[in-house]
This record gives sequence, C-alpha cells and structure tokens, in this order.
Amino acid sequence: MLNSTTFYRQEYTGPLLEEASLPGTPFGFFQNWLDQAIESKISEPNAMLLSTVGASGCPSARVVLLKDFSEQGFCFFTNGQSHKAGEIQHNPAVALTFYWEPFYRQVRIEGMAVPVSTTVADAYFALRPRGAQLSAWASSQSEVVSSRMVLEAQYQKMTERFKNEAVIPRPPHWGGFCVVPTMIEFWQGQENRLHDRVRYTRLGEVIDNAWQRDRLAP
Ligand SMILES: Cc1cc2nc3c(=O)[nH]c(=O)nc-3n(C[C@H](O)[C@H](O)[C@H](O)COP(=O)(O)O)c2cc1C
Repeated sequence: MLNSTTFYRQEYTGPLLEEASLPGTPFGFFQNWLDQAIESKISEPNAMLLSTVGASGCPSARVVLLKDFSEQGFCFFTNGQSHKAGEIQHNPAVALTFYWEPFYRQVRIEGMAVPVSTTVADAYFALRPRGAQLSAWASSQSEVVSSRMVLEAQYQKMTERFKNEAVIPRPPHWGGFCVVPTMIEFWQGQENRLHDRVRYTRLGEVIDNAWQRDRLAP
C-alpha cells in the first residue's frame, strides 16, 4: 500500500489550451512547444520515447533524439540492425512521446515509420562528430557484448581502420526513420488534475494536411 504522506505528488499549471487559440493543424503548434523547450535550455529537449511492437506482440520502448521534423514526419537516426529497426521492419506502426517537465507538457505521436533515403542518412552521418561516426562502425547495436573491453577494442580497431580517411563513410547498416503521424496529442498539465488534452487525427492523405481536432477528457 502506498503511503500518501511520502508518495511524491506534483501540482501542475500552465497556459490554458482554449479552442479559440488552437490551430487547425498540429505542426506549427508542435514547433512552438519545441521552441519553448529549446529556449528554456532544458537538457535534450529533442529527446523522445520511441515505442515499437515487433513480432512478439510485446511493446518495447527507448529514448531516441528527434533530428528533423516536417509535415512529412518526425525523424531520428539509428542502427538499421538494432532491435528497434527489426521491430519497425516487422511492424512500422510506432509511437513517439515527448515530456517537457518544466512546462508540464506531453506530446504523443502515433504513425508509420518510413526509412529515410540514403542521401539523407549520408548527409546526417557526415554531420556527426568523428568519435560518434567511429562508434557507429564499432558497435553492433543491441547485440550482446562480453565486456566493455571488447567494445573499446572494436572502437580502437575502427580508429585504426579509418586513420588515413579524412571523411568516414556511413556504415551501410546505419540510417534513420521518419514517423509519418496519423495522430498527435498535446497535453498541458493544469490545476486539480483538470488537464488540457487536444488530439489531432489525420484526415485523408499526407499531402492534404487535413486534421480533425478533438478535446479529450484528462
Ligand atoms: C538521451 C538519449 C538519447 C538517445 N538517442 C538515440 C538515438 O538518437 N538513436 C539511437 O539509436 N539510440 C539512441 N539512444 C539509445 C537508445 O535509447 C537505445 O538504448 C538504443 O537505440 C538501442 O535500442 P534498441 O535495442 O531497442 O534498438 C539514446 C538514449 C538516450 C538515453
């Protein structure tokens, strides 16, 4: 039984999400919240939980970093042989969740993950620091490794392999996905747990950028 005198309980408050001020489409709204999170200097405002469901039917979730977004989707980069990539290949339906604690704000996104083009993957890989590029070559993400020493030896091996290369190429298994949203929900914590929830559901094709907006009970 939880002891109510010791159990942590935070009161929330924030600007009200009122119908008159809500846009008809969600992307500008998302940009606005992301900008506020970035300007507030919180650590990793672009961190998001990526939830997937693979062949087992069991959900799995992990944090990844949002690197780009547009009406075409919310994009992150990863190892194409990782656990998450395997699940996405089996079932591209995924969910993304942002939580910006200082604002008591959550954004939930559901949609279909689509691989980014090799051109986009190359361009982003080229922007990564050299050490991160070497790690992408050194690490078989999500596989069992017998020790930290083995991992570091693999990194040293890659450092040696590319020591004369000014530009490290993208490993063929490294790339990204963009989640094309079918649903985006904005949650703003409010007093007395009477929170605001506004859900946008896609109508029609991506190109139409048409959305139904609903308020949900908290
Ligand atoms: C703050 C943070 C940011 C992360 N960003 C990424 C990322 O952008 N891409 C990625 O592949 N893993 C990222 N990770 C690691 C993942 O959470 C995860 O451990 C890894 O991708 C393996 O997941 P998987 O075995 O489910 O494929 C991040 C972890 C944290 C805590």
